[in-house]
Amino acid sequence: MTLTNDPLWYKNAIFYELHIRSFADSNGDGKGDLAGIIPKLDYLQELGIDCIWLSPMFPSPLKDDGYDVADYFNIHPDYGTVDDFKALLDAAHSRGIRVITDLVLNHTSDEHPWFVEARKSKNNPYRDYYVWSDTDQKYKDARIIFVDTEPSNWTYDEATGQYYWHRFYASQPDLNYDNPAVADKMIEIIRYWLDMGIDGFRADAVPYLFEREGTNCENLPETHAYLKRIRAMMEAQYPGTILLGEANQWPWDLRPYFGGDPNDPTVPGDEFHMAFHFPIMPRIFKALKLGNTTDIINIMADTPAIPTNCQWCVFLRNHDELTLEMVTEADRQLMWQLYAPEPRMRLNLGIRRRLAPLLDNDRRKIELANAILFSLPGAPIIYYGDEIGMGDNIWLFDRNGVRTPMQWTAEPGAGFSQTDPADYWVPLIDDDTYGYPKINVAAQMTDPTSLFHTMKHFIAVRKAHPVLGWGRCEFLPLTNQAVLAYLHRREAAQMLMVGNLSDQIQTVTMPLPEFVGHTPADVLTEQTLSPIIEANYPLTLSPYQYHWLTFSR
Ligand code: NOJ
Repeated sequence: MTLTNDPLWYKNAIFYELHIRSFADSNGDGKGDLAGIIPKLDYLQELGIDCIWLSPMFPSPLKDDGYDVADYFNIHPDYGTVDDFKALLDAAHSRGIRVITDLVLNHTSDEHPWFVEARKSKNNPYRDYYVWSDTDQKYKDARIIFVDTEPSNWTYDEATGQYYWHRFYASQPDLNYDNPAVADKMIEIIRYWLDMGIDGFRADAVPYLFEREGTNCENLPETHAYLKRIRAMMEAQYPGTILLGEANQWPWDLRPYFGGDPNDPTVPGDEFHMAFHFPIMPRIFKALKLGNTTDIINIMADTPAIPTNCQWCVFLRNHDELTLEMVTEADRQLMWQLYAPEPRMRLNLGIRRRLAPLLDNDRRKIELANAILFSLPGAPIIYYGDEIGMGDNIWLFDRNGVRTPMQWTAEPGAGFSQTDPADYWVPLIDDDTYGYPKINVAAQMTDPTSLFHTMKHFIAVRKAHPVLGWGRCEFLPLTNQAVLAYLHRREAAQMLMVGNLSDQIQTVTMPLPEFVGHTPADVLTEQTLSPIIEANYPLTLSPYQYHWLTFSR
């Protein structure tokens, strides 16, 4: 297989977030590495993945799991070498799989040589690579993101008697994008990896690149202008590569990240190709718990149309806490009550748990959540391990509890590494419900009824129906709020997703006037439903049941 040369490949791609440190260890040091991933590509290919997002792979003191970069031009020694990275790229490409990696634009590690220099003296040539101030009173309207650990976005530097600015940990000083040298340097870094053949980037923490007094220092026009500059360079020199933006923002603040014309989606986007849809995610969990779909429908109604050459990236879980930044304060309290009953499950403004435990390891709920994920407008991303229903360990440091070693086999060590599991960088999940003897890739690949096979099936069916990913989507107005129904259309193709988000049997009447005389068939089960005789089509759904329906005469 080779890569498709469709420049819009990402419109209907299946993404997979792969945490390098926890995926597969090739050299027996208890930490996953790039060379370990290569023999696992067959597995990802079988699942149906089109693009891997690799967690940060650069040299780093790992105070934020690599989001604290100390050298943008190299690979962390734990993960291998630049040659290992090239080998991984080649191996993935030869299977038709693309690879993007994290691009940490906003900040570096405090161990990056730029910062080491910058803090030497006020007139060091690198001083202006970062944001300094005599007081900690500037930019008061900027929120603190890591509220559990950081009392301020300013930290005092004893040696030079000034404060430096940081939106995340104090060990992650923000770069100063008002300095043209910084802006240029980042472009050089981007080109370095693109020249090597990488397919794009997941651009980390993009809302915070610039600071301006009197604003919340997010989503500023200067930030958009700089991102457009990156995009224009990529478009001109590296066609087919993408920028996937991480902006944890409301839909109306996300829309400008696609660029183009806010009032006309036919005008091509000229900023990010893709952006994560943050606000939909917690609402899926809320809806599943309350058996009420109202919030999903409302947030999608509030989601502006995006340019045709752009795409949402939808997700259920990732390597961070399940963020509750994009919900109201009342809903945040409710979500914590519903999904984080133990204080240790909470972290900052979120919940440090994985998908399967969040959904009570209830196969019906896990399937329904994924049926929604794989059919919402956008391209879906799977978080490593969620395709087999891995568990978490809330007692580990920070967010490590959702970053535990991949469970490949039931053998001691779970097939992650050859070394003694006591030397793994974090312990394996080993409890009765989610432990590797029970939940592992090998067992699920041989069991046709496993979650792995269901996930593989979702992907295969989705790919056979490009209306998902390309279609226009509308939510059907239903009186039964426990049921979610949305219809994708593209030319002559349609696909209706309908799901019961409650634990009760539900009857629903769907307005389907244009399909009178048609017979709906579930493309997942190949089951045919009763014909549509009148405009209002009645359907009964068992708890958490879902269909992906097409219509034929
Ligand atoms: C967002 C990343 O997803 C998160 O893991 C990280 O801590 C922050 N950005 C800071 O880079």
